[in-house]
Amino acid sequence: MDFAIKTGAPEKQRSGCLVVGVFEKRQLSPQAASVDKAAKGYLRDLLKAGDMDGRAGQQLLLPRVPGITADRVLLVGMGKEKELTERVYRQAVLTMHATLANAGAKDAICYLPQAQIKNRDLAWRIRDAAQTLELLDYRFEACKSKKNGQKSALRKVGFSAASKSEAAKAEQAAAQGQALGNGMNLARELGNLPGNICTPSYLAEQAHGLGERHPSVEITVLDEPAMEELGMGSLLSVSHGSQEPARLIVMHYRGAGEREQPYALVGKGITFDTGGISLKPGAAMDEMKFDMCGAASVFGTLEAVAQLELPINLVGVIPAVENMPDGKATKPGDIVTSMSGQTIEILNTDAEGRLVLCDALSYVERYKPRSVVDIATLTGACIIALGNHMHGLMGNNNALVSELLAAGKAADDPAWELPLGPEYDELLKSNFADMANIGGRAAGTITAGCFLARFTKKLRWAHLDIAGTAWKSGEQKGATGRPVPLLTHYLIEQAGKRKS
Ligand code: BES
Ligand code: MN
Ligand code: ZN
Repeated sequence: MDFAIKTGAPEKQRSGCLVVGVFEKRQLSPQAASVDKAAKGYLRDLLKAGDMDGRAGQQLLLPRVPGITADRVLLVGMGKEKELTERVYRQAVLTMHATLANAGAKDAICYLPQAQIKNRDLAWRIRDAAQTLELLDYRFEACKSKKNGQKSALRKVGFSAASKSEAAKAEQAAAQGQALGNGMNLARELGNLPGNICTPSYLAEQAHGLGERHPSVEITVLDEPAMEELGMGSLLSVSHGSQEPARLIVMHYRGAGEREQPYALVGKGITFDTGGISLKPGAAMDEMKFDMCGAASVFGTLEAVAQLELPINLVGVIPAVENMPDGKATKPGDIVTSMSGQTIEILNTDAEGRLVLCDALSYVERYKPRSVVDIATLTGACIIALGNHMHGLMGNNNALVSELLAAGKAADDPAWELPLGPEYDELLKSNFADMANIGGRAAGTITAGCFLARFTKKLRWAHLDIAGTAWKSGEQKGATGRPVPLLTHYLIEQAGKRKS
């Protein structure tokens, strides 16, 4: 989708459609009012006649409105003006898209971001609309025999700005919304691909593709012998049962000077999680193809950051491994040595995410990162605790945790903090090794966080458990692209701070 910023009166715009808001009850937005004035009261007459009263969800498409240069005018109901929320606003953008797609309009100018939402400025409203429209353009077709199903003709959307200075901000907001949408769509595509296609080697190839699209990103891929050399006994133990060789993928984005310390993201990339010898039950096991959504969010965030050319350095690290049962697979009770030197008794081979993450986290120490955020579909317990709305967030640095919480709120991609602490950490005790890889049923998300904390003592680190938020089940089954918005916002904020 292409976006543009328009100044000037709506009634004079040349476009396939002008999209303007109407509030309850029968109250024209200022932009609708100027259209109405040019059309000599045509809109008011329609509202009076009862064609529309402005309730959320309503819409009225008007072809060839007199006095207007645009081909069509679309009125979109936005509910009570004083009560406009993010949800109603987004719904209005969805309604606009659905109606325009049906009408066959190729381009439109959208005035919906001119409406006020509490604590959300014009830049937020434009960014959110651009992101929503970009997401609506995505279909999973890689594995369908008939492509290009029902894509809408809508290719170009303009947003309005009142002044030159507002136009510059609006321009930037539209670019951010577009980059976020593209990043999320990349994450969704990788997440949705099945385990027989999206293997560790496939992810490595995709990384090379990203590096080719963006010369600012350098790709390095370590194979199993290279990981062996580094002593990644924990990561490799997860790979033993698989015919697919593991990969450690490193994507290095350079947007700032060579001496600037980078930010780091580490994404769990289990391309399929059977549970290993601690085999999972069969029901819904297909959904374990989504167990690389942390990795996918690292891809998506790098894509967005590279598109926006943010003035920071950023390293994305992905331990990509398939977790399978086999004669060679790791068994419950096996003890492995991690890259950090700490030994781990693997009591449950289904707690594999932490086993690959701990070595990847040790690996990023070499970059002396400003901060490290790992992202993982780590525990079913996180779904029990927080459902499908908030990511679980833990960390060893209060400032970093606060920044991530704030980024989640700003991006409408929220996280909720859970505690770490010695009371929980004790649950990882093992009689035979430095620690066990599970802590029992209680506080499963937190003990997983405590496990990772043992490998991040030298880092300013936070952990996002996205088990409940990375994909949807049921009829709408599919990857969501979260937490690309949270991560990208965090990095945009950091880039802003470093510049000023
Ligand atoms: N990938 C799963 C976590 C998961 C489960 C995410 C269901 C989304 C939906 C992870 O590898 C896992 O199996 N975790 C175990 C840990 C347990 C053995 C301590 C879990 O949550 O049951
Ligand atoms: Mn598992
Ligand atoms: Zn897993």
